[in-house]
Amino acid sequence: MPELRDKILMCPPTHFSVDYVINPWMAGQKGSLNEGRAQKQWETLRDALGEHAEIVLIDPQPDLPDMVFTANAGVVYGDKAIASHFMPHERRPEEPHFKKWFRDNGFELLNLDEKIGFEGAGDCLLDRGGKWLWTGYGFRTEIEAHAEIQKFFDIEVVSIRLTDSRFYHIDTCFCPLNGGFLMYHPPAFDFDSRIAIESRIPSHKRIVVDTMDAGNFACNAVNIGDMVFLNKASDPLKARLMLAGFKVREINLSEFLKAGGSAKCLTLKLTEPVKA
Ligand code: ARG
Repeated sequence: MPELRDKILMCPPTHFSVDYVINPWMAGQKGSLNEGRAQKQWETLRDALGEHAEIVLIDPQPDLPDMVFTANAGVVYGDKAIASHFMPHERRPEEPHFKKWFRDNGFELLNLDEKIGFEGAGDCLLDRGGKWLWTGYGFRTEIEAHAEIQKFFDIEVVSIRLTDSRFYHIDTCFCPLNGGFLMYHPPAFDFDSRIAIESRIPSHKRIVVDTMDAGNFACNAVNIGDMVFLNKASDPLKARLMLAGFKVREINLSEFLKAGGSAKCLTLKLTEPVKA
């Protein structure tokens, strides 16, 4: 267990539902949600993460069914944060709640240009080896945001283009792991982005995730120390992670998959020390 406990922001699924369709996973799911099961699955995730990190909660708001996905509150680096400006108008009313939370909790906020779409840690992932930020674009975050992020955080941004609408946030198909490892689903990126990934992560540290595992949101994992929490992984993927020194803990998050999210989407890491 790490010496200083990580802090993770979560939002109880009190008002979680699938009411609109803003990603392919949500299509046809209206009315299919089992709220009781969603609540239990979320609690199981919270308790499992709570054994390794401190869980901080933000109050859920009525009529904001996707607020449970705190990865999209914004992105944090040191004591700075960039709050999201959602592409789908359905999620825009979440913005003031997350902004207020960041301000109340002492984060310095960037005033991102109102015209630029940006969906927080859903599209911004710190590498766990080198000093750079992997930043996705193509569906929910616009490439125009990348220069602003780089300047505000003073960290190199590596722009990664997403090409498959099922993997609309980079955290659905890409997961940097401690020790400089990377779990990722190559078909979700364009050619140049795959070259950028391969030129930064040596092949023995790249853990390729196939379509079946990616469809089960295996890349949407929370990594704390040597633990990897995810919805579901095949035996070969589990074996590959084990060989890289990780312990896999599966937590069934089926109800959240109906909204196009899983373990990582339900969390926002608040402790991201600035790298030397
Ligand atoms: N229904 C939500 C949306 O489409 C799911 C968000 C998942 N979050 C994530 N970080 N991938 O916005």
